[in-house]
Amino acid sequence: MLQLRDGQEQPLAIRREDYVAPAWWIDTVDLTFDLDPAKTRVLNRMRLRRNPDSVGGPLRLDGDELNLARVLVDGQGASFRMEADQLVIDNLPDSFELEIFTTCCPVKNTKLMGLFVSENTFFTQCEAEGFRRITYFLDRPDVMASYTVTLRADKAAYPVLLSNGNLVDSGELPEGRHFAKWVDPFRKPSYLFALVAGKLVAREQRITTRAGKEHLLQVYVRAGDLDKTEHAMNSLVHSILWDETRFGLPLDLDRFMIVATSDFNMGAMENKGLNIFNTKYVLANQATATDADYGNIESVVGHEYFHNWSGDRVTCRDWFQLSLKEGLTVFRDQEFSMDLCADASARAVKRIEDVRVLRTAQFPEDAGPMAHPVRPDSYIEISNFYTVTIYEKGAEVVRMMQTLVGRKGFEHGMSLYFKRHDGQAVTCDDFAQAIADANLDSELSRLLPQFKRWYSQAGTPRLAATGSYDADARTYTLRFTQSCAPTPGQPLKLPFVIPVNLGLLAQDGRELPLQRDGESEATLHTRTLVLTEASQQFTFVGIDAEPVPSILRGFSAPVVLDFDYTDTQLLTLLANDLDPFNRWEAGQRLALRSAIQAIAASSAPTAVLDDAYIGAMREVLRDPKLDAAFKELVLTLPSETYIAEQLDVVDPQRIHAVREAMRVQLATALFVEWEQVYEQHHDTGAYTPDPLSAGRRALSGMALTFLCLAAGESGDTVWPGKTLQRFKDAGNMTDRFNALSALVSSGHALAAQALARFHAIFKNEALVIDKWFSLQAGSPDRGGHVLPLVKQLMKHPDFSVKNPNRARSVIFSYCSANPGAFHRPDAAGYVFWSDRVIELDAINPQVAARLARGLDRWSKLAEPYRSAAREAIVRVAARPDLSKDTQEVVQRALA
Ligand code: ARG
Ligand code: ZN
Repeated sequence: MLQLRDGQEQPLAIRREDYVAPAWWIDTVDLTFDLDPAKTRVLNRMRLRRNPDSVGGPLRLDGDELNLARVLVDGQGASFRMEADQLVIDNLPDSFELEIFTTCCPVKNTKLMGLFVSENTFFTQCEAEGFRRITYFLDRPDVMASYTVTLRADKAAYPVLLSNGNLVDSGELPEGRHFAKWVDPFRKPSYLFALVAGKLVAREQRITTRAGKEHLLQVYVRAGDLDKTEHAMNSLVHSILWDETRFGLPLDLDRFMIVATSDFNMGAMENKGLNIFNTKYVLANQATATDADYGNIESVVGHEYFHNWSGDRVTCRDWFQLSLKEGLTVFRDQEFSMDLCADASARAVKRIEDVRVLRTAQFPEDAGPMAHPVRPDSYIEISNFYTVTIYEKGAEVVRMMQTLVGRKGFEHGMSLYFKRHDGQAVTCDDFAQAIADANLDSELSRLLPQFKRWYSQAGTPRLAATGSYDADARTYTLRFTQSCAPTPGQPLKLPFVIPVNLGLLAQDGRELPLQRDGESEATLHTRTLVLTEASQQFTFVGIDAEPVPSILRGFSAPVVLDFDYTDTQLLTLLANDLDPFNRWEAGQRLALRSAIQAIAASSAPTAVLDDAYIGAMREVLRDPKLDAAFKELVLTLPSETYIAEQLDVVDPQRIHAVREAMRVQLATALFVEWEQVYEQHHDTGAYTPDPLSAGRRALSGMALTFLCLAAGESGDTVWPGKTLQRFKDAGNMTDRFNALSALVSSGHALAAQALARFHAIFKNEALVIDKWFSLQAGSPDRGGHVLPLVKQLMKHPDFSVKNPNRARSVIFSYCSANPGAFHRPDAAGYVFWSDRVIELDAINPQVAARLARGLDRWSKLAEPYRSAAREAIVRVAARPDLSKDTQEVVQRALA
């Protein structure tokens, strides 16, 4: 399977089918921490009992980078042995008390897994396998225990001491130390354990939920950041109300805490009652955060809160079931954000944004060397499987279930799921079964075994559709053929259950009633066809002229749809479709078609977009009935990554040049419209981050970008000057950053002074400085200037490779988000990438392995990129002492 260099140890693959129940249960855990950055002492007292339903065997406890001082069984020194990282004890009674005393060194923990120090504050991250870096344990999600935690630390340095659950005791200790004792009333797996200790302040709010219970909500941050916590707190309050209203799931704790840290591998973590967040997803005020930041905070706060039920109350049996909680919880946070929208248009905007993420990140994953099913069959390092497939595709699978059983039916299914499995560690099968069992007369129930292929088969299905109109019979027949390309380890795929939301439009754009052959009545619009066969057809009657099909409305399934639309049909959909998603999609298809033609042509790209397309975009911009946010999405061209996915052989420079030419064309051809758009939308009054005014800011920001781009072509200096003024006067970060970005991306000379000023204003705001780095590292390449700039940025005093947010803002913005600058004919981008993967791997394997994914699609590249990219991967793979994380990624890339 995996090719390894001689002498290098083969990392062990963990396989789903090897699951066995634990030989022991841990009922209670009593932890005492003496917190010290250099040497933290952990006393762990557990009650264990043999699991009579297991195959038996000795007790094997996981550990990682721990110093073991003492092991006592029922108070007596016990004989034990070490097998690799495991502590093994034989000859145990059926039930006993185990005491383990260890130490660890949080200040040297640059992996940010387990217990670590960030800005003189202790934090933990235990998912998936970080708890074993704190103490020896059965570190697996199906072992659920009751936790009591005592924290002891210097009071002046660590005044705030937090852990899961309720504070039951606290007080002074000798020598300026103090303690706090926490008891979590709920049993939980070790990955949900958390502690925080340091100098923090909290925004507090008390709420009474519908059940009439009072709760204390707290958002903990560093002292200077309290003025940036209002939005996170509001988002938490909204989340609590929403879960109670939509799914009947109440907050089950007296106290719910969120704590922010600036050193974090991921977005956030749902530890029971003590969510720990990357500052990026907590801190916001109008001066420092953009509308996008506000939106992300709302959905991440929601996401972690919703895990309290879908993750904490009901958790995963093993890590192969990760999507059980992640797919479901992403679905829930998507629904939450949509339900907060004021109207259907704003909901559609959210849906389009979510689908864009799926198609630009998950579809490539599903087509590349790391392709894996929503429920994987094996892994070497579980951290590598916190992927867009587990999260976003997993959410689409849940969404399809909702489509098949209806919104109410899905709510009943959720109720049954929590009723059946509260307090348990379960599987994706259990979830799907509950949704189906609550809807026995549904298609989902009838098709459940086949539907579950979405969990077991990797790869994005392709759905080819053709339509034929019979004028004499007045019928229209749609034929669908589905297929799915092989993925690693899965050469053959069986047909999926694909719900296709369909509408038919007359050629003048009117919505047609849908009546199938043999039916007595018509549906007014949009119906769900459920595909189950490799090939299937549907005939509609009473159709007076060849219709335009609107297929996959709302993106009702995560598939690639091939339908040979004429340009005229796409223009009809773009102008008229009742479904905003397919309206947007029609515009994307038109732009993509032009891009692909121009990429294939041999001439320099000019006039890539035709008059009909430009005219349609003009109509969209002028349409008084369309929201600004929607217009901004329609006018955004498909990304370079998305375009690349449509091609068999990828020349990133060619794609970049063509897309830039298209942008210049939109800028110049619609110059008058952009001026009008800017004038009409740039004043949004007092700042609020609501979707309507955010949409206006997005569209006016886009207008500025195009106006500066057009100015670059014509030599005009008026708009760059106005943009600089806008940058200086802006009353919020969204407008300020959009203006800055317009100057930087057009390469205008004024960009330099704006960048300098931006840095000077925000030098003490780490998250804003991340934006400053990221904008430059992600800017369009002109003559290869970005790579030298990136190297220079890494020497900036504010740069630190150890801080994940900062590393991402420079290195990832260049390597993973700027294909036109990264894929250099001289291969210098790839050499830089391999150096950074190697450098990061020694510090933080999770961050390194993420960066290593940046060349996943190397085999699609045209020469000379292809060979050079492969060489860079080989160079990384050849390093001795590579982490399991990075090894797994590069070995799969080369397999
Ligand atoms: N459960 C967290 C969330 O999605 C993410 C934790 C990721 N941990 C990791 N080791 N990759 O909300
Ligand atoms: Zn999650």
